Amino acid sequence: MYRTKTCGELRLANVGECVTLSGWVQRTRKMGGMTFADLRDRYGITQLVFDESKDKELCDRANRLGREWVIQVVGEVSERQSKNKNLPTGDVEIIVRQLNVLNEALTPPFTIEEQSDGGDDLRMKYRYLDLRRPNVRRNLELRHKFAFEVRRYLDQQGFMEIETPVLVNSTPEGARDFVVPSRMNPGQFYALPQSPQTLKQLLMVAGMDRYFQIVKCFRDEDLRADRQPEFTQIDCEMSFVEQEDILQMFEGMSRHLFKTILGIDIPTLPRMTWADAMKYYGSDKPDTRFDMKFVELMDVLKGTGEFSVFNEAEYIGGICCEGQAVYTRKQLDQLTDFVRRPQVGAKGLVYARVGEDGSVKSSVDKFYSPEVLERLKQTMNAKPGDLILIISGPDTLKARKQLCELRLEMGQRMGLRPKDKFSCLWVIDFPMYEWSDEEQRLMAMHHPFTSPKPEDVPLLDTDPASVRANAYDMVINGVEVGGGSIRIHDAKLQQKIFEILGFTPEQAQQKFGFLMNAFKYGAPPHGGLAYGLDRFVSLFAQLDSIRDCIAFPKNNSGRDVMLDAPGVIDQSQLDELHLAINLPKA
Ligand code: AMO
Repeated sequence: MYRTKTCGELRLANVGECVTLSGWVQRTRKMGGMTFADLRDRYGITQLVFDESKDKELCDRANRLGREWVIQVVGEVSERQSKNKNLPTGDVEIIVRQLNVLNEALTPPFTIEEQSDGGDDLRMKYRYLDLRRPNVRRNLELRHKFAFEVRRYLDQQGFMEIETPVLVNSTPEGARDFVVPSRMNPGQFYALPQSPQTLKQLLMVAGMDRYFQIVKCFRDEDLRADRQPEFTQIDCEMSFVEQEDILQMFEGMSRHLFKTILGIDIPTLPRMTWADAMKYYGSDKPDTRFDMKFVELMDVLKGTGEFSVFNEAEYIGGICCEGQAVYTRKQLDQLTDFVRRPQVGAKGLVYARVGEDGSVKSSVDKFYSPEVLERLKQTMNAKPGDLILIISGPDTLKARKQLCELRLEMGQRMGLRPKDKFSCLWVIDFPMYEWSDEEQRLMAMHHPFTSPKPEDVPLLDTDPASVRANAYDMVINGVEVGGGSIRIHDAKLQQKIFEILGFTPEQAQQKFGFLMNAFKYGAPPHGGLAYGLDRFVSLFAQLDSIRDCIAFPKNNSGRDVMLDAPGVIDQSQLDELHLAINLPKA
C-alpha cells in the first residue's frame, strides 16, 4: 500500500497512529538536529519530522531530498509543539521512521506555491506543475463540483445526457470553423461544431424531449479573457415549451448551483428587455452590481448652447458618479485618455462637478447658461459632491458602447464591482437581426433557427430589422453566461427566415436541408439554451480569465504552449490527405 492516509486528513484525534503517506516534497528545512519537510498531495500538506538523534542515517537522507521529489514515509502521528493555525493538519506532524524515495525530480522552473514566482508563459509551458498549486487545483475542484451539480439538477428534471458527434459540418453560430480534412473523402473536410445546435434540434424531432450535454465547442475567433477556441457548453434543449418554461427551468438550475456550491440564495432574476439594456447600460450584458444608469441628455444639451459637438450629436448621454466631484483635473484628463483609447473610441469626455453648495461647474461652462447646467443637474438627479460624465456621438449605438465602457471603468474605480457579489438577470426580447457592415446584409443575431415573436411576424415582410426574437441571455456581473431561444419548428417560416438572411432556396437546402427535411416529419415546438461552463465557473471562482478554470487552456494566440500545438505535420500526412501548404510570402 502506497499510503494509509492522505496529506490532508490527519488531526489531533490521530495522534499515536502509525501511518503511511505519499506525496511531493514541498520544501525542507534543517533546524539543529531536526529536519522538517512539508509533504503535499491533492488533499493538503502534512509536516514530517526527521530527528538526527534518533536515526542519523534517515535524517541524512531527508537532508538530501529536493523540492518536488516524490516520496513515501512511514511514521507516527504526534502533536506539534508549535501549531500552525493556517493548515488544517497544523496540529500534528509525523515522526518519520521510514523514508522511501519513489521518484527524484528536477528543480521546478517556478515555485509551487499559492503565489508563484513564475510568469504566465512559463507556468503554461509547465502547466502540469502549475496545476500542483493549491489555488489552481481548487479551481478544477470547483469546476468538477459545478458540472456534477448541473448533472444532478438536470437529471432530477428528467433531462437525458446525449453525446453528439465532433466531426460534423459547418454549424451556424457565426464564428469561423475549425476544419478537419477527411482522408477517406479526399478534398472534403469536417468542421468541428461551434455548438451542437442543429443536432439537439434533431434530437427533439427524435422525441428525446429533454436533452442536455456538457460538451466541447470550437470557434475560431479572436480570443479574449472570456473566450477560448475550444470551450465547454452546458447545452440544453426541451420540447413542448414556451420561453417562460425555459426561463423557469434554468433559473431553477442557477439557483441550485448558487445554493449548493456557494451557499448563496439568489433572488428571482429580473428581466430586462434588450432595448432597455442598450438604453440604460449601452450593453446587452449589463453589469447590474451597481446602478449608474445612463440618462439621455439630448433634450437638455442639444441646441441649447453653442457647443457644436453636442449640437451635431445623434446621442448625448450621461452617468452620475456619486461623491466623485473630488476628481482632480488630472484624474479627469486620465479618464478622457481612457475613453479616447482605440478600444473605447470616443472623441472626448465632458464633465460637470456639483459643488457642496449645489452649483455646477462643467468643462463646457462657456457654451451653456447656468439655467441649462441647472437642468442638467436636475435631469441627472445629481446631488452635491457628484460628478456627471457625458459622452456624445454621431452614432447612438457606438456612443452608448463608449459610455458603457466609461460606466464600467467608474464602477471599477469606485469599488462597485466586487467579485464576491453576484447580480444575475435575464436579458430578453433580442432583435432577430443585426446589420453587418462587413457582409452588407442582415445577420441572425442569435442563429437562423431562432423564432420571431408571434406578434412581430407581420413585420418580417415590411421591416425585418425591427422584428424581435424569442431569444434570451442570462447575464451575471456583466458576463453573458448563457443564451438561447425558442426555435422555429415550421418549415415554411424557417424558409422565409433563410430568405431574409439572403440564402437562396438552393443554398438553404444545401446548408440546412437535413434540418428542414427533418422538420417535415413532425417537429415538436421546442427551444433551449446553452451556458458557457467555463464562464460560469470562473465567475464562481472569482477569476479574471476563464483560462484559470481550464486544465490545459490555450493562450491568446490560440496556442497550447505545453504541447506546442498547433504544429506542422509530415509531408507524408499531407500527401495522404492530398493537401498542399501555400503560405503567403513573408
Ligand atoms: P451562444 O453562441 O450564445 O449560443 O453560446 C452559448 C454560451 O457559450 C459561451 N461561449 C463561450 N465561452 C467561452 N469561449 C467562447 N469562445 C465562447 N463562445 C460562447 C457563452 C455563451 O453564452 N447554440 C446556441 C445556444 C442555444 O441557442 O441553445 C449557442 O451556442 O457563455
